[in-house]
Amino acid sequence: MEGELRSLLDEARVAFAGADTVEAVEALRVAFLGKKGKVSTLLRQMGQLSDDERPKVGKVANEVRDEIRVLVEHSLEQAAERARKHTLSERIDISQPGRRWRRGHQHPTLRTLREIIDILRGLGFSVARGPEVEHDYYNFEALNFPPDHPARDMQATFFVEDKVVLRTHTSPIQVRAMLAAREPPVRVVAPGAVYRCDQDATHAPMFIQIEGLFVDEGVTLGDLKGTLTHFLQRLFGADVKLRLRPSFFPFTEPSAEVDMSCFNCGGSGRDKNGGCRLCKSSGWIEVLGCGMVDPNVLAAVNFDPERYSGFAFGVGVDRIALLRHGIDDIRLLTENDVRFLAQF
Ligand code: DAH
Repeated sequence: MEGELRSLLDEARVAFAGADTVEAVEALRVAFLGKKGKVSTLLRQMGQLSDDERPKVGKVANEVRDEIRVLVEHSLEQAAERARKHTLSERIDISQPGRRWRRGHQHPTLRTLREIIDILRGLGFSVARGPEVEHDYYNFEALNFPPDHPARDMQATFFVEDKVVLRTHTSPIQVRAMLAAREPPVRVVAPGAVYRCDQDATHAPMFIQIEGLFVDEGVTLGDLKGTLTHFLQRLFGADVKLRLRPSFFPFTEPSAEVDMSCFNCGGSGRDKNGGCRLCKSSGWIEVLGCGMVDPNVLAAVNFDPERYSGFAFGVGVDRIALLRHGIDDIRLLTENDVRFLAQF
């Protein structure tokens, strides 16, 4: 019987060596160690042994059972490890080369904005900020908008609640900057997002403006024109000429719209293909609004309008970016399609 036990162990060794899945190992465990397994079947015959043989055979039987248990554990571990490796290598091809990250770059609007700020910083302007959710007082009232002015209309303005609006322009930062300074001189540029109920190829419900403001003693319209000339020539080239067209804004008096000579046709209205599309053959492109700060606005922030004067201007940054890159739809700038943005 001892011999039978030992050959059972040999049989087990061969069998477990060939079991390469968890299921196969489990089946062998039952076949050898289960209640009706080979070991139990043999042991059940121990009753037939003589009294002095029984302890000897019993000892061998225990050894064989323990060895088979070790075989089971060892084979289980190996089978599990094999299964893990298998599923991993199915999911990951470790020989595949890595994926390259594509490097991004600044959005054309942001790059234009930073250039504008850089130019104006060079003229002594510093950057001021204000909230995008603005009080009616800063957005309209302190800027001399009459109570029934159409710019307050639902058509153009997103009202958050009565007297609270998404700012429709960056001009309210003028008021905030002057109040913060308490006394002139004030020389700030104020960039930021602005919101209007508008949407077509040239108007977006949100766009970026930048505001310029300079208030001091003796500031003149000549200072304004000199500043804007320098500014636009730095952006569009030294050949650019400016034209100030009389206009109206409640917060400036006089007010003007600034046109610059078309950089596509050199102001002639015609390029090599015929009529210039960029300026619609007029030779001029409208770029910004400006004017001399209205005395009522100075008075609203307790600056003495008899002593101080100032100029202000407001530029659509997206519009400048569109012009510089020859893009014809402002919505492309906010759709964030990487295929579009990657061109710049
Ligand atoms: N705030 C005006 C707008 O959004 C633009 C503007 C015009 C700003 C004249 C100014 C200015 O500072 O002087 O249409």
